[in-house]
Amino acid sequence: MVDKRAIGIFDSGVGGLTVLKEIEKILPHEDLIYFGDNLRAPYGSRDPEEISNFCLNIGKFLESLDIKLLVIACNTATVVCLKELQEKISVPTIGVIAYGTREALELTKTNKIGILSTPLTAKVDAYKNEAQRINKEVKVYQIGCEPLVPMIESGWEDTEKNQALIRSYVDRLPTEIDVVVFGCTHYPIIEEYFIRELKGKKIVDPAKETALEVEELLKKLKLLNKRDSKGKVSFYTSGNINKFQKIAEKILGKPIKKIKQALN
Ligand code: DGL
Repeated sequence: MVDKRAIGIFDSGVGGLTVLKEIEKILPHEDLIYFGDNLRAPYGSRDPEEISNFCLNIGKFLESLDIKLLVIACNTATVVCLKELQEKISVPTIGVIAYGTREALELTKTNKIGILSTPLTAKVDAYKNEAQRINKEVKVYQIGCEPLVPMIESGWEDTEKNQALIRSYVDRLPTEIDVVVFGCTHYPIIEEYFIRELKGKKIVDPAKETALEVEELLKKLKLLNKRDSKGKVSFYTSGNINKFQKIAEKILGKPIKKIKQALN
């Protein structure tokens, strides 16, 4: 069976492009529609009720474009409204937290994992609850890294000061942890700066795990698009199109065209 409808993916900004990139790699025949809420990013320091309203609007917007699956490619939005969107949107909806946690639990030998995320994801114990639901023995250390999302949104600069900021977060993790999860989809964009400080610890990027889950789910629900040609990828931003294009092309490593403005 061939289901030609697109997969909808959204984030507060450009972070979810790390998830889109992985989905595109695994499922090149699928059409993808990305929405970045750049106008309202960062979500991580906002009120949950406000985030919930934004996400519901985005979910409804993507649903109106006739998608077959919705991927919340944002940890903060997953924390706040995965359940709500699953109830209110008529297509299957998944978030990012469950899959990164699963991978971290498989990789850890010390049973101690570190999570780097937005303050909101850290504050509500999103990863800790999910990990301990599966394995009660595991210890989870969560660090909220407040200014990183806006810094990445406006184009990360490779300076000693910025490197020291990353170091200050990594230094707050206990040395016994052996796995660190990027609990924010923006962080893989600046992965190399984290790698410098993480000194050989294993890194989990939930984008990869989420993409695998998308494949599994489409197979299970018989919704795969089994055509031979490559799928189309289109983009929406609530922010400035030129700004979005510049940073998105850098993250995806290729030129992109189809960008429209919506929900602004
Ligand atoms: N990429 C989002 C996440 O994974 C960032 C949220 C924000 O805008 O603060 O949490």
